[in-house]
Parts: sequence; structure tokens; C-alpha cells
Amino acid sequence: MAKERGRPRTSTVLWEGVQRLLAAASADLGAPELTVVDLGGGTGGLAVRVAALGHRVVVVDPSPDALAALERRTVEAGLSDRVRPLQGDATELSALLAPGSVDVLLCHGVLEVVEDPAAAVRAAHETLRPGGRLSLLVAQWPASVLARALAGQLGQALHVLSTEEHRWGPSDPLRRRFDRAGATALVEENGFTVTAVDGTRTFSDVVPSTVTESDDALALLRELESRAAGTGELLDLAGHLHLHATR
Ligand SMILES: C[S@@+](CC[C@H](N)C(=O)[O-])C[C@H]1O[C@@H](n2cnc3c(N)ncnc32)[C@H](O)[C@@H]1O
Repeated sequence: MAKERGRPRTSTVLWEGVQRLLAAASADLGAPELTVVDLGGGTGGLAVRVAALGHRVVVVDPSPDALAALERRTVEAGLSDRVRPLQGDATELSALLAPGSVDVLLCHGVLEVVEDPAAAVRAAHETLRPGGRLSLLVAQWPASVLARALAGQLGQALHVLSTEEHRWGPSDPLRRRFDRAGATALVEENGFTVTAVDGTRTFSDVVPSTVTESDDALALLRELESRAAGTGELLDLAGHLHLHATR
């Protein structure tokens, strides 16, 4: 992986979790080359990494600008034959892709912004083949309370804590945040079995960036993140939850 200075943008814990999920899907489905959909995949940072592992990826996103950036990125990476951009949104998934045709569906940072998260999970379920995997990443509200309070935004922290959708205010770009019980219930009520939950960005969003300017400090942050990911007592404090689920 390219060395990232300062705050890591793509969590190492998340990428390792995605690779574990893909490996498990390949083994269970007997398919070394998987058909993967990245729903709301945006500019394709994750899609390109998944394609570089040898899988075929369809990126479904409503934003033409994001898809144009994705196309440039895939050309640069020499992976245009493995990554297909498809304009559309979560509600159109079953019209865009044949039911049961997908091995792995990535849905990262999307349920926080869509109008109807349950409809998006149902569409994912319909698109996946039996035994297919869902990789779901959602923002977690307790971490947001802590991050806002530590940043001195006490009113916003209180708002995240006390409102139903756990937003910090009307200009919060997210429509909602989740917690472990809520995200698990949403997925399981729509036909999936959750097999693992990892916590990502437990410290990256609260440690000041000045602390991680040296390579040694960055390595320590990554080690902390990695150990926190599998520590049940810290799971509720993770900035994001990565749920692995099977259809
Ligand atoms: C926060 S970005 C996440 C991008 C990427 N998945 C990631 O993890 O970096 C949210 C993405 O969801 C897309 N999006 C917004 N509404 C959507 C919808 N109804 N269905 C599918 N994707 C949507 C946006 O265009 C954007 O690319």
C-alpha cells in the first residue's frame, strides 16, 4: 500500500477486513474471481484496490462527477477492463443488475446518506446470490459524540447524543448515524446473517493530526487501530463499524 503521511484516509483495518471478506467469499463460492458491486462507490478508491486483487467490480453511483473521476482512476491504474461504472442509485439496483448475480456487495458510507436505508439493504440482498457477502461500513454515533466534545463543540455533541438520527445539526452532511445494535438489526431484519463486526477509526478521528506527523507516531496509531478493532470493549467507540454479513 502506498505510504500515507499524516492521518490515514483509508483505514488499514478496513482494507484488511475487506480482504478477509473477499477471501472467505472466494473460498465458499468456489470463485477465485468474484463479481463485486461497490454501491455508492464514488470515485472508486476501494473498487480499484479490489479490482487489483483480480476481481471484477461494478461501481454503482448516482453522481456523474464521481463516475468520471472513477474512469480516470481506472485508466491510470490500467484496470479499465475490470471496473465498470454504472450510474444509478440504491433503489434502482434490481433494475440495473440481475437478481442473484453478484458475489460480494460493498456498501461503505452510503446508508448514512440514502433516503431509505432498509430499502438499500433489501436491494443488496436481492442482487446477491445465496452465500454472497455484504461488506457494510457505517458511521457510528457514540464516536461522533466523543469527537465533537473533544473538539469543543459541546452543543453539537449533545445534539448527536440526544436526537433520533444522531446528527450534529441541520448542516450535518449525514442524514443519520448508527450503533452496533441498530446496524446489526437493520441487516438481519432484511435477510442477512452478520458474521463479524470490526471497529475502524477508533482513534484516527480524535487524535490531533499534529501527533501523527512522524512515521513512528503514525505506526503507533495504526497499531492502536488494529488492536482496538478486535477489542470488544472499544467497539462502541469506533468511528465506523464494518459489518461482514452473508446472504
Ligand atoms: C460518503 S460517500 C462514500 C463513497 C465510498 N463508498 C467510500 O467509502 O469512500 C457516499 C457515496 O454514496 C453515493 N450516494 C448518494 N446517494 C446514493 C444512493 N441513493 N444510492 C447509491 N449511492 C448513493 C454518493 O454519490 C457518494 O459517492
